Amino acid sequence: EKGNHRHYMEKEIHEQPIVVAQTLGAYLDPLAETVALPRELPFDLADVKRVQIVACGTALLAGHVASYWIESLARVPVAIENASEYRYRDPVYEPGGLCLFISQSGETADTLAALRHAAAGGQMVAAVVNVDTSTMARETQLLLPTHAGPEVGVASTKAFTCQLSVLAAFAIALGKAKGRVDAAEEARLVHLLTEVPAAMNVALRCEEAIAAMAPTLAKARDILYIGRGPDYPMALEGALKLKEISYIHAEGYAAGELKHGPIALIDEHVPVIVIAPSGPRFEKTVSNMQEVMARGGRVVLISDAEGIASHGQGSMAAITLPTVDPFITPLISAIPVQLLAYHVALAKGTDVDQPRNLAKSVTVE
Ligand code: F6R
Repeated sequence: EKGNHRHYMEKEIHEQPIVVAQTLGAYLDPLAETVALPRELPFDLADVKRVQIVACGTALLAGHVASYWIESLARVPVAIENASEYRYRDPVYEPGGLCLFISQSGETADTLAALRHAAAGGQMVAAVVNVDTSTMARETQLLLPTHAGPEVGVASTKAFTCQLSVLAAFAIALGKAKGRVDAAEEARLVHLLTEVPAAMNVALRCEEAIAAMAPTLAKARDILYIGRGPDYPMALEGALKLKEISYIHAEGYAAGELKHGPIALIDEHVPVIVIAPSGPRFEKTVSNMQEVMARGGRVVLISDAEGIASHGQGSMAAITLPTVDPFITPLISAIPVQLLAYHVALAKGTDVDQPRNLAKSVTVE
């Protein structure tokens, strides 16, 4: 049921504070300020020596964000790979290898085949899945469910932020098991995660500003997204979401990579969406934004009040998010990125919930 929303996608975007709270509730004890993975673990997280993340599309981008969390909190090396490519690599399986699969449907053919390959190769296997009756949920050793509820819009929104929520909790749990996250740090991180739903509610208030600029962006033929650190996969996610529902060509780049080629595309006809929350990465991303402006590029800056006050001038639009700790920024910047795709698609009049050529669950390889 869409309720009073025009599309499932819009409803699912607005549901995120609730379903993220639900999902976090299954992994966090907010009073004790600790993480708790569900059920008995089929293997000991302390044995994990490296993590291989495998998924497709938006789920893969959730994994890309998680790779930053896992490496910084647990100091375990992480590799990420498209499920469709994974088996063609002849992957190296060693003791201590954990393969982590992420899938909303739990049925994506490539991800499922990769899961079976890793299990047969003697790896520890964990899966972050939204549909708990799915094949992946049944076949994985460790199931890490998301509690997003049924996702109907073809473009994944609430499943993505619920995946991020589970992965953040998992990264803390792994950090604990590896002796890298002590009780005080665990309490601090858990506390930050409990603030996410309220911060998401504040972030949703940027919808009006996004709707106001959407008709301008809808006229573009190409749109670029840039970000640095965990904001880089968010740039990739912004571009994926926009292209799949608005059919506008979009690409995401690591902010610092722009000058190695893509900056040649920049002129007044190619808007650039800059995802740059204030914090440790802000100044460098801003200098990449200024490189774009110096070449006549029009910029949309997605940041917080502080970031926009210091560097919002000269942009065609600025989208203000609440100020949050750098640990949780991807969960918050997901909101404007999704709303932007949604409102640009509305302005173009495309079929938001059923974009052409796409299926909700991809069960062929
Ligand atoms: C993008 C999108 C797809 C899916 C991908 C994986 O909005 O929805 O990229 O994320 O097809 O699907 P699942 O998560 O079901 O394995």
